Amino acid sequence: MKKLKISVIPGDGIGKEVVPETLRVLDTLADLHGGVTFQYENHPWSCEYYLEHSVMMPDDGMARLHQTDAIYLGAVGNPKLVPDHVSLWGLLIKIRRECEQVINIRPAQYIEGVKSPLAEPNHFDFVVVRENSEGEYSEVGGRIHSGDDEIAIQNAIFTRKATERTIRYAFDLAQKRRGRVTSATKSNGIVHSMPFWDQVFHEVGHDWPTIETETNHIDALAAFLVSKPQHFDVIVASNLFGDILTDLGASIMGSIGIAPAANINLNGKYPSMFEPVHGSAPDIIGTGTANPIGQLWTAQMMLDHLGLEELGQLLLRAIKETIGEGIKTRDLGGTANTKEVVDHIIEKLRLY
Ligand code: NAI
Ligand code: MG
Repeated sequence: MKKLKISVIPGDGIGKEVVPETLRVLDTLADLHGGVTFQYENHPWSCEYYLEHSVMMPDDGMARLHQTDAIYLGAVGNPKLVPDHVSLWGLLIKIRRECEQVINIRPAQYIEGVKSPLAEPNHFDFVVVRENSEGEYSEVGGRIHSGDDEIAIQNAIFTRKATERTIRYAFDLAQKRRGRVTSATKSNGIVHSMPFWDQVFHEVGHDWPTIETETNHIDALAAFLVSKPQHFDVIVASNLFGDILTDLGASIMGSIGIAPAANINLNGKYPSMFEPVHGSAPDIIGTGTANPIGQLWTAQMMLDHLGLEELGQLLLRAIKETIGEGIKTRDLGGTANTKEVVDHIIEKLRLY
């Protein structure tokens, strides 16, 4: 029997509602498999925890996370109790950085039964691979002088190491999918870092001769995601470009309540973290209307990462069939509550 240890951080708001519900699904999947069990280490780290302890996680928090196989997170943030920059930097961003989760992946897919804002969504199905450790989001720079003479300088950092590993990850992924990688660039306007990015993309591409490659400027690419999203398979992008494209991806899916994300550690030293795209949704806490699909799809990415792809596929099938049958929460135009959606998915899994 394979035992997998999972750090569970429900966090705040609807994180505390969807995470426990979705653990029931993971347990059902483990039962179906027969050869695996999930051992959860539950952590109450959240804004409420902060009010009591003045920190978002205890001193030995990181060490405890390091001893587990994956981190399964709900959402962090309750601006009424703790300012967002304190809660996010004290937990979410701290984990991303200290666990060296250098790549962020977000799939976007048209789902039958979810109303996309696109008139013709054409069954799009793509994944954005985003550099998650450097690029435009660097702390290098500063401000000097004041008034009319004021100067602000923000430096973007592009290392060969980080650029190459991100692009390699994208090619690897495309190999397992439909075999196309699109690189997001802006080498016509950003004249040092982006030509460098393009060069690395070109060089790395030689190692995958069967993969089709293309390079699009970020502005055109953003427009193409609206006009022909079905064209894309894997999109690789810098930190800033990836950030923008992934929000666009989640939005054309039709609801932020269904979009998943993963923060991947590549060196094997620390666990990766799986979290939905949505936040703690303070406006719907306690109403029972939180959509559990984003969290569940996130669980599917975690299963994939842990080498349990078959279980992940079963889960995705159950999710899609449940939505297709109209068992949906309010954000998708349905009337089911969180628990009813999860119950339905579990029933389906038991029948497979
Ligand atoms: P949000 O994603 O929490 O909510 C935006 C809107 O989408 C709200 O109307 C909400 O009701 C709805 N929504 C979100 N998830 C849903 C779900 N599963 N089912 C149904 N409806 C859903 O973003 P917002 O309001 O900007 O942020 C709230 C808090 O969450 C803030 O403290 C923010 O910093 C934090 N946050 C945390 C994230 C994380 O932990 N990764 C990501 C985004 C925001
Ligand atoms: Mg964003």
